[in-house]
Amino acid sequence: MRAYLSLGSNLGNRANMLTEAVERLSAAGLPPVTASSIFETEPQGRRDQDWFLNCVVAIETEWSPTEILACARRIETVMGRRRLRHWGPRTIDIDILVYGDAVMRTPQLTLPHPRLHERAFALVPLAMLAPHLELPGHGLVSDLASRRAAEEGQGLREWGPLPLLGHVPPTPGPVQPGTAPPRGATRSRLLQALRNAPAGVSGQRLAEDLGVSRAAVWKHIQRLRQDGYSIHGTAGSGYCLQTEGDVLSLESLAGHAPRTIGRVIHVLRSVDSTNATARQLALEGSSEGTVVLAEEQTKGRGRNGRGFLSPPGGVYLSVVLRPDIPPAAATRFTLLTAVAVSEALEESAGLAPHIKWPNDILLADSKVAGILLELAGREDRVEFIVAGVGINVLSAPDGVPAVAVIEQAAHPVTRADVARAVLDRLDTDYALYTEGKWPEILSAWRDRCVTLGQLVRVHTIHGVIEGHALDVTEDGALLVRVGTDTQVVLAGDVEHLRSAQ
Ligand code: BTN
Repeated sequence: MRAYLSLGSNLGNRANMLTEAVERLSAAGLPPVTASSIFETEPQGRRDQDWFLNCVVAIETEWSPTEILACARRIETVMGRRRLRHWGPRTIDIDILVYGDAVMRTPQLTLPHPRLHERAFALVPLAMLAPHLELPGHGLVSDLASRRAAEEGQGLREWGPLPLLGHVPPTPGPVQPGTAPPRGATRSRLLQALRNAPAGVSGQRLAEDLGVSRAAVWKHIQRLRQDGYSIHGTAGSGYCLQTEGDVLSLESLAGHAPRTIGRVIHVLRSVDSTNATARQLALEGSSEGTVVLAEEQTKGRGRNGRGFLSPPGGVYLSVVLRPDIPPAAATRFTLLTAVAVSEALEESAGLAPHIKWPNDILLADSKVAGILLELAGREDRVEFIVAGVGINVLSAPDGVPAVAVIEQAAHPVTRADVARAVLDRLDTDYALYTEGKWPEILSAWRDRCVTLGQLVRVHTIHGVIEGHALDVTEDGALLVRVGTDTQVVLAGDVEHLRSAQ
């Protein structure tokens, strides 16, 4: 399907922003096949800001409009867009203008873009690419563009070309309407075909087997290489998968078949914090179960305002949840996540982790994973929860008393194995929760918890208490016997002093 996207920027180095957005679209699997010139346009709505640079790019894609929109929102977020006020300045704005001849109206998306017919800054560049396109109810793009450009006068001027350097346009493959495979399916099948042909397989053969063009095979091979797969290509034996290494990509997560968690997954090389990105996506309306997964975080967040060192070698992921609960019940999801992570480490690495209240995951006595829950909502109801998980898989950060999964795993394990298992277990346990099986999850948490029964020192915002950790409440608060008194601790850092027995 051919779709047209408009890109706009009026913050920072505007031309670089447009180029970076194109690069990010390409890396995500939406490489533009052609682009208009860049136009400089007067800001609409609010005049007290810089002029915009705008352009339009065309893509050929199997993705649905909703998937394109999700990708565009992710790129906007990663590139620092903050939706602080309507019509406000922005590092990057990516809109879907037209998607084939689709006409749709949902709360999230209207196609063609509902304001396209009146926006010179989108119509004029679009007319360079698709002058004969008809906008239902409004007429030809070229006519609309000339009319609106004449009305705007000095408010719109051609600025220069959009550089699409190093970019090879793919040729559309022979995909039948209505039978397009879901996003990522072609690349997963290609990867499987390479695994099945250790001696190599020709591009022509792959194209025939997968039902796509040779250019599409080439594009997917490039993407797999960018993701870290080592694929050797020769004229004689074709493409050959050298080593899979340890790749975190959508393909390496294939096999996770989600009910809720992981229906949309954003895989990033590096990000400030997956929790921050997931929170932004949630604020912009991302659906329940959306996952942000990164190989590295530059500003990982830990509990109680601390940082969380997140070098490459770990799995850092955050999930958007939208349970209909009061804020007081949110701690349950900390405990649920701790159970899911423990189960995932058991399954993927043959480990027997323990949980320190509320949510540190320990191997022997050393921390292997941390969990951070962040909430948004009103006083009486949670709007969304971001559940963040950081696991030291291949290595633990220098200078902290922590351990990595591979140091104690029963067999070799990759980051993808661990990430897939975490998503699987989170999905299963979340489904159990929604089916009313919280008591089972709480019991699984108690079975793994090493805090209960211990003499503990708890650092809370109200001070430090020492006593015996007796149990947790239904909502996961810690009950500590201090002298003859039993105190309920909602949040804090626990030190295990010695066994109470
Ligand atoms: C802690 O032990 O203090 C909690 C650490 C939680 C770290 C994870 S890593 C993924 C997610 N993104 C963040 O910025 N933090 C959480």
